Amino acid sequence: MRYEFYNQDCIQGAREHLRDNSIDLILTDPPFAINGDKLHKHYNRKEAFVLDGYVEIPQEEYADFSKAWITEAERVLRPGGALIIVSGYSNLLDILNALRGTSLKEFNHIIWKYNFGVNTKSKFVSSHYHILYYCKPGGERTFNNFARFGSRERNGDNRSLLYQDLEDVWVINREYKPGEIKNKNELPTALLIKLIQYLSKPEDVVCDFFLGGFSTAKIAKGLGRSAVGYEINKNSFDYHYEEVEQISINELASKVKVGKDDTPAKAGEPWTEGEINQLDKRYIELRRNGHTKKKTIEILSGEFQRGNWSIIKRLDALNIRERVDPVLKLQFDSE
Ligand SMILES: C[S@@+](CC[C@H](N)C(=O)[O-])C[C@H]1O[C@@H](n2cnc3c(N)ncnc32)[C@H](O)[C@@H]1O
Repeated sequence: MRYEFYNQDCIQGAREHLRDNSIDLILTDPPFAINGDKLHKHYNRKEAFVLDGYVEIPQEEYADFSKAWITEAERVLRPGGALIIVSGYSNLLDILNALRGTSLKEFNHIIWKYNFGVNTKSKFVSSHYHILYYCKPGGERTFNNFARFGSRERNGDNRSLLYQDLEDVWVINREYKPGEIKNKNELPTALLIKLIQYLSKPEDVVCDFFLGGFSTAKIAKGLGRSAVGYEINKNSFDYHYEEVEQISINELASKVKVGKDDTPAKAGEPWTEGEINQLDKRYIELRRNGHTKKKTIEILSGEFQRGNWSIIKRLDALNIRERVDPVLKLQFDSE
């Protein structure tokens, strides 16, 4: 495993240390070029706990700066590797322009809604960031669809947890860390865990061009990935470097929720006539035996190795529930 961190400018550093096509995932949160950004005061409460020396980029240099580091990111990513950029909206255009000047392909533009938005009187409260998901063409992309939930896991309202987790609007609160020394803008652990679980494999190399509080590196190491990165602020670098050292490789693995691929074996396959007749018969049997509609569909999904929707669609095509339930006087179901 590889753990390499450098207290230097990421553009220079990447040129010195990172080979072409060598990184599986870049997950980074560049400075936003907002002069006098005070947002951190709202969630850190006490400025004394925020480390000095955070390096901001002057607004007029932001477009060129974004182009320079994103060009390096494109070079070092392996084909198929992913680049995740967390950005505010003020200078998002510069980041999007820089990305459009590369070969990188857009896969998602996620909205992350956080707490501690700044109160306003004459406009709406700003309470979201953008998470851009781009990949380098020409290789196999890692997207671990079932990293966190299986396709059959449901919440109390019977909605798919997997579907909800894959939606592109995320509500994740920032962490309030009273009395802890920290960098100015730290990403929440839950957000980093989610991105690393979906977009990388164990032992992959995860890189952060702007380490700040080393949050990405800490989670990457905790999830058994290699980590490399840069932070130009010596205060932050020296303080947080020590913290990463304390983390054991893969120590988070047993603490995070993981899913498994429980897709039914015949999902997507056409139905045979024999299966359709059998489905008709089994529905009647199961309903006669007192199973609710919901339970019957669950059982049929297991027996026929198809998803619930496939079973429901097929039953509807047979008009079976209207044909059978009233005749069997089964409409007393409580569901
Ligand atoms: C938004 S913060 C990153 C926060 C980090 N994701 C975390 O969770 O703690 C951006 C960081 O980039 C650093 N930085 C600014 N310019 C840099 C450069 N050219 N190379 C490396 N780091 C830089 C800043 O000092 C700051 O710590």
